[in-house]
Amino acid sequence: MNRSALDKTVRLVSEYFDSRKVGCVGAKGFRKTTDLSKLAACMEELASTGLISPERTTFVDLGCGDGRVNLLMSYFVRLSIGIEIDGEILSEYARRRGELIPILDREGGLRPPENIFLFRASSLDEKTFEQVRSETGASLEGVDLFYTYITLHDLFAEKIALQAKPGAYYLVYGFSRVLPRYDALDLVSPDVGAQGIAALFRKPV
Ligand SMILES: C[S@@+](CC[C@H](N)C(=O)[O-])C[C@H]1O[C@@H](n2cnc3c(N)ncnc32)[C@H](O)[C@@H]1O
Repeated sequence: MNRSALDKTVRLVSEYFDSRKVGCVGAKGFRKTTDLSKLAACMEELASTGLISPERTTFVDLGCGDGRVNLLMSYFVRLSIGIEIDGEILSEYARRRGELIPILDREGGLRPPENIFLFRASSLDEKTFEQVRSETGASLEGVDLFYTYITLHDLFAEKIALQAKPGAYYLVYGFSRVLPRYDALDLVSPDVGAQGIAALFRKPV
C-alpha cells in the first residue's frame, strides 16, 4: 500500500469517526468509542515493529460497537473481525461506512479493503467463534491480536488465556494511570504508541 495514500486515508477515517464520538459523558458512558487518531498512532508503532501486518494478522475487536475500530484496522491487518452484542449499535456501521466512502473518494483516500467481517453475537458465547470460522476461515486459535475498549476486559483476558494460541496479543484501550493486570497474560507495553491510553498484553509462548 502506498505510504502517503495510507497516511492520508488514516487521517480521513480518523477525522470522520472522531467527529462522531458516542457516549463520552452521561448514561451512555458504557458505549464510549475509541479515538481513532490515538489508535492509529498505536498501530503505526505495532506495524513498524512488525507486530501487525496486512499480509498475516488476524484482528478481533471483542465488542466492536459501530465497527469504527474494524474500519481503521482493515488497512493494517489481513482480517478485521468485529463482534457486537447489540444489533442496534452494530447497524450504525452501514450508515457510517456509506457516509465515509464518498469522503475517501473525494479526498483521494483509499477505500477500505474487503477484509472486514462483523458479527452480531457475544464474544463470550462459544458458538460465536464457530460462526466466525465458518464465515471467515479464522478460528479463535488463529487470532493474532484481540482488542477491547475496557468492556469486559477481565473476562476477555480469561478467555484469551484459556483459548487463544500462545503468543496471541491483547490490546486494552481506555486505561491511563492504573493499568489492569491479568494473572495469565504478560504485560508487553504499558503505553503503546505513547498515547497514554492503550496497553498491550500477550499470552506467554
Ligand atoms: C466501549 S464500547 C466500544 C466500541 C468499539 N470497540 C470502539 O472502541 O469504538 C463496547 C461495546 O462492547 C459491546 N459488548 C458488551 N458486551 C459484549 C459481548 N459479550 N460481546 C460482544 N460485544 C459486547 C457493547 O454493546 C459496546 O458496543
